[in-house]
Amino acid sequence: MQVLNTLMETSYREHPAFSFDVPSWDIPTEKLAVFNETYVAARQFGSVLSTVSRAALQQDLLQLLDGVFATFQAQSADEYEARFVLELRRECIRLLEQELVWYARQLRTGFVDLTDERAQQDAVRMQRDRCYFGRLPQVAVAELRNLAERKLGQLRANAAAGRLKREDLSVNSGSTVRAIMTVLNREFKALGVLDAVSAYTGCKTRVSGLAVELSVPQAVWWKNAIGGLERSPRTLYAHLDEAISYPKSIVYLSDVTDQNGPTGCYPGAYEAMQLNPLKEMLGRVVGTVGYCADSPLKDYYAKQYHQSVNSENFRRHFMRLPECLRFNSHMGWDVLPGSKLESQLVASERKMTGPAGTFIAFDGACLLHRGGLMQEGERLALQVIFSDLTFAGRAVGKLKRILS
Ligand SMILES: [Fe+2]
Repeated sequence: MQVLNTLMETSYREHPAFSFDVPSWDIPTEKLAVFNETYVAARQFGSVLSTVSRAALQQDLLQLLDGVFATFQAQSADEYEARFVLELRRECIRLLEQELVWYARQLRTGFVDLTDERAQQDAVRMQRDRCYFGRLPQVAVAELRNLAERKLGQLRANAAAGRLKREDLSVNSGSTVRAIMTVLNREFKALGVLDAVSAYTGCKTRVSGLAVELSVPQAVWWKNAIGGLERSPRTLYAHLDEAISYPKSIVYLSDVTDQNGPTGCYPGAYEAMQLNPLKEMLGRVVGTVGYCADSPLKDYYAKQYHQSVNSENFRRHFMRLPECLRFNSHMGWDVLPGSKLESQLVASERKMTGPAGTFIAFDGACLLHRGGLMQEGERLALQVIFSDLTFAGRAVGKLKRILS
């Protein structure tokens, strides 16, 4: 795939909804370079450094981050911009601390059985494409579908009553979910999925959380709310997940065609973005700014459900970030219709259609993806999180955020 970073910059520059009569903030190149080099060192050597050295590196990174945000703060024009900087800094620190824990994990080798040729090929695909596709045996699909049926009535009733938020259309805890998880772990073990994912992360992973999710055409949250365009981009809802430590799977429990919300992914797009570490970090969290109930930006942005860029005030703040740091991990909504960026992405999208039991295992943080954009019918699917035992408790607790 062609390099995307310049296409992304051009798309924002030429997009009428992202054009504001204010300059972007400056950041000294040196400040950016030092942060990025230090971050790469933590990523590369986190698992071999002593606890003391890791703590020192973390302190350095936090200080460097403070320096970057102080620069932005000094250039902010009003209290809202100052608040944007403050919240963005807070979210970056949260993510940085999480990522450093992940980089410090003890990488293991030789614990995965890849003697089976298919498991070996799947592991290679996972490594190369950050995803691969498979299918569960029919008998397992019937068992899973039977279990999920117990929740389907309530989910359908919610949809019929116009309750269309994710929490209304999914279930992620309780005995039914627990039973589905047991079946799925057994099937994924037998198919070598757990081995392929474990080989990818360097940790012994298993399914540690999941949601049974119903998608219906009345749920239109994914449609573009940026006004003044002739048409929406053909990349709506394409995004990277925030957390880098939780590979995922989506398992269809109903047949899925082009019309009822197939999961799509863009292998190679993340790599082609050539994000520097700070840009990537900012992009993963920028959409969360203004979400807290007590944030003065909540009313100021008045974001619609699941989107940030439908808010003009948010877009103006976003465009204040220097071009070298301007990234939104939920970029599918931002893409300028008719741009080269759009056509590149459209050409690379792989859509997963197929009968119930079809699944994808993928690294949602490093594979641009989307799904559940319903035209008609319904889709019943499992949204699945893998993690190693150390991270499992947290994965379940943070299921809502991770599954977004
Ligand atoms: Fe996602």
